[in-house]
Amino acid sequence: MAYNLLKGKKGIIFGALDSKSIAWKVAEKAYEEGAIFTLSNTPTALRFGELDELAKKTNATVIPADATSVEDLKNVFEQSMKVLGGKVDFVLHSIGMSLNVRKKRVYSDLDYNFLNKTLDISAISFHKMLQLAFKMDAINEWGSVVGLSYVAAQRTHYGYNDMADAKALLESIARSFGYIYGRERKIRINTISQSPTMTTAGSGVKGIDGLMDFTNRMSPLGNANAEECAEYCITLFSDLTRKVTMQNLFHDGGFSSMGMSWKAMEMYNKSFNCDCNQEKDNVMD
Ligand SMILES: NC(=O)c1ccc[n+]([C@@H]2O[C@H](COP(=O)([O-])OP(=O)(O)OC[C@H]3O[C@@H](n4cnc5c(N)ncnc54)[C@H](O)[C@@H]3O)[C@@H](O)[C@H]2O)c1
Repeated sequence: MAYNLLKGKKGIIFGALDSKSIAWKVAEKAYEEGAIFTLSNTPTALRFGELDELAKKTNATVIPADATSVEDLKNVFEQSMKVLGGKVDFVLHSIGMSLNVRKKRVYSDLDYNFLNKTLDISAISFHKMLQLAFKMDAINEWGSVVGLSYVAAQRTHYGYNDMADAKALLESIARSFGYIYGRERKIRINTISQSPTMTTAGSGVKGIDGLMDFTNRMSPLGNANAEECAEYCITLFSDLTRKVTMQNLFHDGGFSSMGMSWKAMEMYNKSFNCDCNQEKDNVMD
């Protein structure tokens, strides 16, 4: 059901690769809610992904960019303002990649060139976008910028590797630039910390199946999926959240506030072959 929450709004959506991508779902929802926008991803992603299909469906123009290149990003903002007929109201940064993860370099044996790449692609690109848009005055007053993060920025998660450091940096950039944008332009900058989600990036996380089962058992509301994440993004792009800024907003069914749940404990107890049904009656909370 659509509510016209983004009627008349213009935006840029970075990071839709295929129909599983969080950014893909955001584009679909933004379109349903009345927004017009451009889509951007790397030339490689454009070759191997399915972005043209999404562009067709949502009447969007695709502008290629490697998000680590200031020149490419400048072109995205310039072209977007041209195509959309003025400044934008929202920007989605839905970009992440670690070569250390891809090449199976563990955290105690990082390749530092790869680490620099991880930080550049997954976090510094957010600063590059924000700095460019600030200098170009490319975002309207009461506009909204959202980046996607993960709870490994605060709490150590086995196997998340150097992406944890990238997410910590991403969230810090949102706060630091959020202050400047709020003060100077009345524009809000937030990150959403999303549940583990089965996307291309998500499948790269070590033990994703077990992790998703664990977080689902730990979260009183269960894992949040990509579509639900998109819905949350839409609220942050809408005028209903105009005073929310500099926040890292957990969208994880309650996972980040849990220490241990009955459902997770039940599973854990199974490994001791205990009588879990009996436990259930006594220790559900
Ligand atoms: N899937 C999860 O479990 C999960 C959980 C929390 C946060 N996130 C974050 O959500 C965001 C979107 O990921 P997703 O899960 O939709 O996976 P995805 O693989 O669909 O999206 C990642 C995107 O990053 C793009 N990208 C990689 N390098 C780039 C570069 N140099 N320039 C521009 N774009 C580049 C890819 O082409 C891809 O479109 C990422 O920041 C990810 O870390 C994902």
